[in-house]
Amino acid sequence: MSRRDFVLSELGLTPLWVRPERITRSMAAASAETGQPGPQPVAQAVPQPVAMEPAPLQPTMRSAADAVRSAIADAAPALRPPLAATSPNPAPATRGAPVQQVKLVIGEGARAERIASLDWQALQREVAGCTACGLCQTRTQTVFGVGNPQAELLVVGEAPGAEEDRQGEPFVGAAGKLLDNLLAAIGEKRGERVFIANVLKCRPPGNRNPQAEEVLQCAPFLARQIALIRPRLIFAVGRFAIQTLLQTEAPVGALRGKVHEVDGIPVVVGYHPAYLLRNLPDKARAWHDLLLVEDQLTQLAGKQG
Ligand code: URA
Repeated sequence: MSRRDFVLSELGLTPLWVRPERITRSMAAASAETGQPGPQPVAQAVPQPVAMEPAPLQPTMRSAADAVRSAIADAAPALRPPLAATSPNPAPATRGAPVQQVKLVIGEGARAERIASLDWQALQREVAGCTACGLCQTRTQTVFGVGNPQAELLVVGEAPGAEEDRQGEPFVGAAGKLLDNLLAAIGEKRGERVFIANVLKCRPPGNRNPQAEEVLQCAPFLARQIALIRPRLIFAVGRFAIQTLLQTEAPVGALRGKVHEVDGIPVVVGYHPAYLLRNLPDKARAWHDLLLVEDQLTQLAGKQG
C-alpha cells in the first residue's frame, strides 16, 4: 500500500467515507464498558437558516450570478411560496405542483426566455447542441447532469473536467468517487434521490476557471434544471458553485454551517471534493457539512410528508 493510500485509509477516506459519529459512538460504548472517559465528539450545533448578506461582487461576476438567481427567482414563485429571510426553518417546496412556464429576463433575453420554457427532454437537447460560448469548440461533449429529475437533493459543482468531458457525466473522476462516498455516508446515491449538475455544462480547456461570459450563457440551463427538478435542498460544492449561486464573494469557510436560501430553496454549501482530496485535514469539516445536508433533508421531508 502506498503512503498516500495508507494515509487516506487511516483517515477513513477509502474505500468508503466512514461516519465519524459511528466511531465516536463505538468509542463511547467502549468507554462505558471500561469506565474510562471516552473522547469528546467534535460538536457542532446544527445551525438554523440565516439570511445571507452577500458581499459585493465584481461587475462581471455579478452579472453571471444575477443570471442564475433571477432565473430561479422567476421560476420559484410559481413553484413554491417565497420564504421569509428570517424563517427559523426553510419552508419546503410544494412538490407535485405543475411546472410553470417562466418568464426570464436574463442573459440574452429571448434565448433565456425560451430555455426557461423547455421541458426536461427539450432542455437536454438544447444543452447538447449549445454553441452559445467558445467552450463548444473545445468540448468533446456537453455534460448535462446525472440522476433523478425528481431528485430531493441537487448537488451543484463547477464544471466538467477531462474525464467528465470524455464520459458525458459529472463527477466521474477521482473527485467524483469521493463525492459518491460522501453521499453514501449519508445514505444517498447518485441516480436515486440525487441529481448532480454543474454550473457549466462544457469543460473549460485545461480545467481553467470558468469565465463570466461562459457562466452567463450557461446560467439559464442550471436555472431551468433547478426549476424543473424543484429539489428540497441544494448542496453547492466548491467556491465557484457556491459564489455563483449565493451571489457572494465570501470565502467558503464563512458560508459553511448555515442554511442559505436561493429564492426559497434551502442551500447548504461544502468543500469541493477535489479540494478535499488535496486537503485532508478539512475532512472533519466536510463531515459536518454532510450532517447538515442530512439533517435538512430529514427536516424538509418531515414537513412535506
Ligand atoms: N468538478 C466539478 O466541479 N464537476 C465535475 O463534474 C467534475 C469535477
